[in-house]
Amino acid sequence: MGSGLISDAEKINNILHKVHNESDILVSMKMRMGYENPEEILGVLPILDTYPLKNIAIHARIGKQLYKGGTDLEAFQKCLNNSKHKMYYNGDITSVAAFHKLQQRFPSIDHWMIGRGLIADPFLPSMIKADISEYPKNRFDIFNEFHDRIYQEYDAALSGPTPIKMKMLGFWEFFSQSFANPQKTYKKIKKANSPKNYGIAVREIFKEAKNS
Ligand SMILES: Cc1cc2nc3c(=O)[nH]c(=O)nc-3n(C[C@H](O)[C@H](O)[C@H](O)COP(=O)(O)O)c2cc1C
Repeated sequence: MGSGLISDAEKINNILHKVHNESDILVSMKMRMGYENPEEILGVLPILDTYPLKNIAIHARIGKQLYKGGTDLEAFQKCLNNSKHKMYYNGDITSVAAFHKLQQRFPSIDHWMIGRGLIADPFLPSMIKADISEYPKNRFDIFNEFHDRIYQEYDAALSGPTPIKMKMLGFWEFFSQSFANPQKTYKKIKKANSPKNYGIAVREIFKEAKNS
């Protein structure tokens, strides 16, 4: 049910009660702030306070937004004010500058979760950790190797040209944002209609990036 469950605090209580009674796993939570509105989570946080959770990672949006529109930082602050648990911030960390802004806004947060920004730019976590905004000189050699490793591992695990193409297309939806012309890059991958043509497209994309 995803974020549709947030408005049903009793159901969440029942699930957590069962998990805590029937296992000794320390649960961590990952949630949005509601489905219809970001106040929904405020009815759940007091219940979560009664369980020994490891942490709560909050994607600072509501379900009906899907991935559109901005994150709601004021509503996220309300979550911080209304929970005793360790909170992780999640949502739209897409650059070192965006991270700095969020860090200034939420100085008490020391755990950050990155989703799409990490796939769009796999260098982002290490740049945030080192607090630098320059890419390594051989950025696209490293990226190329990373791509090839992912491709090889999935190719070995999946069977047939269609599943691997679909899997890689999912990556390229985000990878393409690291290249000068994201739309053109994504289209090129989309058009590649065989593993051979996929390989050619990838080589061309990285060659152009390395030479620019
Ligand atoms: C393609 C895709 C698949 C996702 N799958 C899951 C999932 O299975 N479980 C989950 O908790 N969140 C999932 N998410 C949400 C992300 O974990 C994250 O909360 C969201 O993308 C916001 O963070 P971001 O702005 O850093 O991407 C998914 C997001 C995307 C784009």
